[in-house]
Amino acid sequence: MIFTVGGIKGGTGKTTISTNLAVWLSQQGADVLLVDADEQESASDFTAWREETKKGQLGYTLVQLNGATVRRQIEQLRPKYDHIVIDTGGRDTASQRAALFVSDIYLIPFAPRSYEIWTLSKVQALLGEIMGGRATPLQVFSFLNKADTRGADNSEATDVLRENEELNFVDYPVINRKAFATAASKGLSVFEMIPLDEKAVSEVDALFGHITGIKK
Ligand SMILES: Nc1ncnc2c1ncn2[C@@H]1O[C@H](COP(=O)(O)OP(=O)(O)OP(=O)(O)O)[C@@H](O)[C@H]1O
Ligand SMILES: [Mg+2]
Repeated sequence: MIFTVGGIKGGTGKTTISTNLAVWLSQQGADVLLVDADEQESASDFTAWREETKKGQLGYTLVQLNGATVRRQIEQLRPKYDHIVIDTGGRDTASQRAALFVSDIYLIPFAPRSYEIWTLSKVQALLGEIMGGRATPLQVFSFLNKADTRGADNSEATDVLRENEELNFVDYPVINRKAFATAASKGLSVFEMIPLDEKAVSEVDALFGHITGIKK
């Protein structure tokens, strides 16, 4: 499967979700390619730290791809891997559009703050254009990341996302937990970070299980 993690907002957790998903898939024994399609190169930075921490045992292959050629390059790479995870930048870029034309699944994290929701119409416009240019439908999943443990912000954001059917909101929130940042600074997923934050692990595990349909 080819996953694009995107959206039109910075800092929602795209790289966090991409890198954790790449590791999660590789832990199931799959051959995984992580594509860094963001000029900020955060997925590449994560991978560089991972090289050090894991002594070269990454568990996935990393490539950097940019611009409209992403589409053709992914098509060429597709047969070589079980899964491809594409991390995009937080804007409407040529790379994100190109990635969406060849992806099976589009993951859109939203952080539950009211300003996040303002990019919804842009995401919808982008989706409309992509869907129009594809032979097969793109499977979309939106979800909350950096969610509060409880509180009004989560439920307000959930309500707004639910109103937009094409965003296919799934109720598998990933809570704002220090473990994500701590793990990332070492190039690790939360599945590998000792001590294990069991809540963080079970949240992403549930989300990934749902979107991939993979039963462990
Ligand atoms: N669930 C979470 N809990 C706590 N911190 C998180 C969570 N998800 C992401 N973060 C932190 O939030 C910051 C932004 O996350 P990340 O880099 O994944 O976002 P992004 O969408 O890729 O950003 P950009 O748009 O700049 O590419 C990072 O410091 C990351 O560690
Ligand atoms: Mg990023």
